Amino acid sequence: MLSEVMDLLVCPHCTSDLEAIGDGRVVRCERGHTFDVARQGYVSLLAGNAGKIVGDSAEMIDARSEFLESGHFDRIIAAVAAAMSAHDPATVLEVGAGTGHYLAAVLETFERMRGVGIDVSKPAARKVARAHPRLGSVVADVWQPLPVRTGSIDAVSCVFSPRNAAELRRILAPNGVLVVVTPTEHHQQELIETLGLLRVDEDKARRLGESLAGRFEQLDATRIEFTMALDHVSIASLVGMGPSARHSTDASRRTAIAALPDTAEVTASVTVGTYRALASAAL
Ligand SMILES: C[S@@+](CC[C@H](N)C(=O)[O-])C[C@H]1O[C@@H](n2cnc3c(N)ncnc32)[C@H](O)[C@@H]1O
Ligand SMILES: [Zn+2]
Repeated sequence: MLSEVMDLLVCPHCTSDLEAIGDGRVVRCERGHTFDVARQGYVSLLAGNAGKIVGDSAEMIDARSEFLESGHFDRIIAAVAAAMSAHDPATVLEVGAGTGHYLAAVLETFERMRGVGIDVSKPAARKVARAHPRLGSVVADVWQPLPVRTGSIDAVSCVFSPRNAAELRRILAPNGVLVVVTPTEHHQQELIETLGLLRVDEDKARRLGESLAGRFEQLDATRIEFTMALDHVSIASLVGMGPSARHSTDASRRTAIAALPDTAEVTASVTVGTYRALASAAL
């Protein structure tokens, strides 16, 4: 619920404190900027660029929900929850939170922990708002200053999502941790070949390191790799939730999936990196 995390949020226009007013359907800052709380429980704290970046569509978010609920990524979800909770955070935040599945698992590890899920997609924000009672859902663009109080977050996760290292460093508390999940070049390799999906950029790991350098030090990097036995429905969800969903028509994708064996072996391969915010970093 938003009320659980209001003290962690700030106005996107003037960075002053926010409070819920009336029956909780409006959030207002000290200088009088107001933001409507959606019926589904999330608040949009976009400043200025509203609508320019929309993020994942409702279809992509539904596909992501279906796939994550099927349990095939449970090992990755558990690894993220373990990496976050190892540092005993009281406040956690995910950028590009998607459906909120990862944050919900983190919040289950410790009953006094509270969380904020940020995503620019409204269909994602609706899911995040329902994902866990101690989770607040905020629509914001990670490429803009985050509407989050400086130094207020103990652990941030970024799972297959864009990240803005300077802002993540700013919102983290001293010694706060950042957990980043990125796909390796083997992730979904069988489907990349047969369905013509977008390839993982081979330079991804180097670019991640460069973007965090000077602000974070690496504590750990764990590779998680396993094989999933997927039927056509799961493969359709996996493809539909990913970046390739934007690059092929439904019909062409359905035809290609129908030509696969009834159960296909597909590799999941990711790196879970844990980083500590450097005290000396310029904010
Ligand atoms: C690949 S999905 C990952 C979702 C979730 N972390 C998971 O793994 O299930 C990327 C997410 O980032 C969001 N996103 C993309 N661009 C964004 C931006 N500029 N600001 C905030 N969120 C963004 C998308 O809407 C989408 O939900
Ligand atoms: Zn304001």
